[in-house]
Amino acid sequence: MTAAETSRVRYRRPRRDESVEARLFEHVERLGEEHPPIPLDSADFSMKRPDLLASRFGGVVAYMTRVELEVERNVLELNLLLPDPPPVDKLFYAEVWSPQEIHHGLLLDRLQTLAGLPVSAPNVDKISFQLRFLGALAHLPVIQDISRMLYYLTGVATEKSAILAYNLLHKGLLDLGEKAVASTIIAPIRRQEPGHFAYYKIAARGLWDEMAPWQKWLTRLLRKQSFEVVGAYNKRQRTEFGGVMEALGITAEGDIGIQKYAQQVGQVELEMLWAERQGLRFPSYVLDSFRSAFRLHRRG
Ligand SMILES: [Fe+2]
Ligand SMILES: [Fe+2]
Repeated sequence: MTAAETSRVRYRRPRRDESVEARLFEHVERLGEEHPPIPLDSADFSMKRPDLLASRFGGVVAYMTRVELEVERNVLELNLLLPDPPPVDKLFYAEVWSPQEIHHGLLLDRLQTLAGLPVSAPNVDKISFQLRFLGALAHLPVIQDISRMLYYLTGVATEKSAILAYNLLHKGLLDLGEKAVASTIIAPIRRQEPGHFAYYKIAARGLWDEMAPWQKWLTRLLRKQSFEVVGAYNKRQRTEFGGVMEALGITAEGDIGIQKYAQQVGQVELEMLWAERQGLRFPSYVLDSFRSAFRLHRRG
């Protein structure tokens, strides 16, 4: 008997609350029907001042393009991390989430090229050693539940960051007078992000309620160790993210702005993972990583 089989005998995966499962299926079906991938020919790329757009928001568009296109790699990572996912997760990420995100990336990539910025060079196939290692462990169902929880938490924070970023970018482009791009590219993209956020939030809360105390303990520990600003896997990308925060005006009020941002991005996990800690406004590791990205950017 392999280690994985032994663990399956000892550990019976609790049945996911059927009402959570049913809500998720309903949600995914609705998203699929109401939000097909944005047709690439529906966008109007005409710009009044592409040079101004590039100098003001080039870093933001480039960052978001890379993150959206790297969804292709995220799907490979998910297949590794979740060898035995609940069918609704697979349906969500394979049929709804990744096709939508890839179109976001293609639209943004075209936009940045037309604005005179370099074509994106996303990492679509290199999976880090840490993830391969976690993937190997994930064949044990008890561990897979923790990986799945971390995946949902990352999804919640990533999608929330995307919602906030697209709202600010949309407003910034309108302020520049770039109505066509704002309303035919950024607006349709930002309409699809809240559905992703809702999926991860429902899934995370459902799984959290089923976890054993030791799994919750380990999840908190790993989350604290591994939290990263969206789409950053190295120092250069963290620095770039600091620039994105500045260009979007998140840091305009200084540290207060960063705290407000951390509060929004960290809210769901604060309520779940850290519910017993009274009086916290955000998990400290969330604020620390945003502060550190901005500091790196400022140091240039
Ligand atoms: Fe997206
Ligand atoms: Fe998304």
